[in-house]
Amino acid sequence: MKTKAVVFDAYGTLFDVNSAAERCKDKIGTKWEAFANFWRTTQLEYTWLRSLMKRHKNFWEITEDSLEKSMKVFNININMKNELLNLYKILSPYPEVREVLEDLKNKNFKLAILSNGTPDLLSELVESNKLNKLFDDLFSVEEVKVYKPDPRVYEIPLKKYNVKANEITFLSANTWDVSGGGNYGYNSIWVNRNKLKFDILDYQPKNEINNLTHLLDII
Ligand code: LAC
Repeated sequence: MKTKAVVFDAYGTLFDVNSAAERCKDKIGTKWEAFANFWRTTQLEYTWLRSLMKRHKNFWEITEDSLEKSMKVFNININMKNELLNLYKILSPYPEVREVLEDLKNKNFKLAILSNGTPDLLSELVESNKLNKLFDDLFSVEEVKVYKPDPRVYEIPLKKYNVKANEITFLSANTWDVSGGGNYGYNSIWVNRNKLKFDILDYQPKNEINNLTHLLDII
């Protein structure tokens, strides 16, 4: 099936979620990476738990809640909270992202983000990195107020583009998100940046790439 739209996950796929803590590594010390990983894992757990409990809070609030817990666990001075949160709004993209998006745009693909992030967070993220002109749409779970991998989230771009699920090529570095999109019917591609193992959740992506550089060769 021909790809009509290329849809990207944001956090961990286009933007480096560890870059906020990394920019503070002088203050946090050698534990910065373990702390960043714990923050990310807790943040994701809170999205799943809140979806199951049907107690939605937006991704910005969840990012703050999970940061607070992580700072306690890692004994990091709470005075750093606002600094870390502000850095989370302007996370760095991975090095190849701009060029790949420009190439896809030149080939006339519809380009979008589909993310847990709020509309404001996503706008700030792409604007602070001067990527805003490259995207046709920034789709947020706030439209349905439930988190990935609920199928209602993956349905959002279908309505807007009037396409079938298998006409969307979806890229995520998060294995569970690749499984979520794939089970929904997307042509999901796993961006395996860290040589990880894939999940056993009823879906195996046909393609796996270690960064976005070779995407144009396979779609
Ligand atoms: C997102 C998270 C899952 O951007 O990375 O939706």
